Amino acid sequence: MSGALKLEFAPLATRPRGVLVLFCEEGLKFGSAARRVIEPTGDLVMRAAAADRFKGKNGSALDLVAPPGLDLPRLVIVGVGKGRDLKPRDFVKLGGLAMGKIPAAASEATIVADLAGGGIKPDQVADIALGVRLRAYAFERYKTKRKEGEERAAEVKVTILVAGVAAVQKASAVREAVASGVLIARDLVNEPANVLYPEEFARRAGNLKKLGVAVDVLDIKEMKKLGMNALLGVGQGSEHESRTVIMRWNGGKRSAAPVAFIGKGVCFDTGGISIKPAQSMEDMKGDMAGAACVVGLMHALAARKAKVNAVGAIGLVENMPDGRAQRPGDIVTTMSGQTIEIINTDAEGRLVLADVLHYVNKRFKPRFMVDLATLTGAIIVALGQEYAGLFANDDKLADRLVKAGNEIGERVWRMPLGPEYDKLIDSKFADMKNTGGRYGGAITAAQLLQRFVDKTPWAHLDIAGTGMGSPQTDINKSWGSGFGVRLLDRLVADYYEK
Ligand code: BES
Ligand code: MN
Ligand code: ZN
Repeated sequence: MSGALKLEFAPLATRPRGVLVLFCEEGLKFGSAARRVIEPTGDLVMRAAAADRFKGKNGSALDLVAPPGLDLPRLVIVGVGKGRDLKPRDFVKLGGLAMGKIPAAASEATIVADLAGGGIKPDQVADIALGVRLRAYAFERYKTKRKEGEERAAEVKVTILVAGVAAVQKASAVREAVASGVLIARDLVNEPANVLYPEEFARRAGNLKKLGVAVDVLDIKEMKKLGMNALLGVGQGSEHESRTVIMRWNGGKRSAAPVAFIGKGVCFDTGGISIKPAQSMEDMKGDMAGAACVVGLMHALAARKAKVNAVGAIGLVENMPDGRAQRPGDIVTTMSGQTIEIINTDAEGRLVLADVLHYVNKRFKPRFMVDLATLTGAIIVALGQEYAGLFANDDKLADRLVKAGNEIGERVWRMPLGPEYDKLIDSKFADMKNTGGRYGGAITAAQLLQRFVDKTPWAHLDIAGTGMGSPQTDINKSWGSGFGVRLLDRLVADYYEK
């Protein structure tokens, strides 16, 4: 992480310190608290706005250095457009914009949470704070020096001035839990594969125990006994041993069936014997973004004490070429008993998920399963990096995911499944093969997963385009995005608690 963020709330009357950030609606309309704060500057703001043609449009900003009349290094005015049109995700974005306007070298800043329409609600201020936290993240663990002029403060203290501190603090505590989950996921995705191999990943998932999550790690011996040969086949060419991690948060009724989240955790994907070209192969350290999201989500649920029983399960492997590696043509018997012919060792994620999905379904009989995986390049061709691909055998679950995604701004687009696609993975020698030809690659991958979920409501999120290297936004400047944590937290909060 970058210079640590210290975020606090204080009453509106508190004297601002450091970089001062105010919001302003279209037509240069300020709230009463903001007006009071800039009063000593006379007509400075109006003159600067006119000179810069700043009108308060959403996303625009006016930046004044050492403003006369204020004993502050900088005054930033962030435009919000029309205040009453703002949705929750817009407040998160505003927090991100505000944080982005605070120079990296600054150690102190004050944001006045105040709009012309009067009374920002506690939830809306908490959303601003969430945006601040998400934007403040940077993965800088391996930066040992800084160029001149690019220095960063060791810690930045951001104070948000609000009308009712207690109510905002309460609303913010829940979002802080979720934000931490997102940052944990980002850290895992950004971490290089020489550091984050399956055992180390499992060890880090073990940190969840501190929050009351039960964490069980299956080693190779146990997975062999269970018959998880598809997962083990992927990892057999690696010097690093494979692991499966099962995380359980029991915040719901004792007898209630859990919801379940399953993540692809390929700590590095060389392609194996069907080796990938060198171009961009380094990105394959992020092929565990699905698993990272599941860990981040379990953190979020436990930290906010969600009233739900939830299972997180991640299959952790490294896909390497080696004398012992799996070959094209090999046939593996999965834990479910179904057999898979390996056509391409680079279609490994579905092999890992086949066993973990079956394991979770059989052991926990969950209400639903959602898996997340950086599964195919084909989904990036289809949807770019704005939407994750959504595949489901259950319309209700799919609709809920679409809705939750639109609300919080992690969007998913439903893709088709069907028997015409399914038959493309029938094999001459086994029950199925692990690739379905050139066309519809994201769909045939999902069809293979569907063969391992039985009748349980299930959704698959192909996050190859959104989990890593996705376009930078106001609330994420990092390579690993943590995509999915907020989406699934919202799914649980809106539909599966209580
Ligand atoms: N991890 C990759 C998919 C991927 C590609 C993720 C680019 C993120 C960015 C996956 O294991 C893979 O290699 N898929 C192959 C499947 C093919 C061999 C059928 C692909 O998409 O090319
Ligand atoms: Mn692959
Ligand atoms: Zn992969």
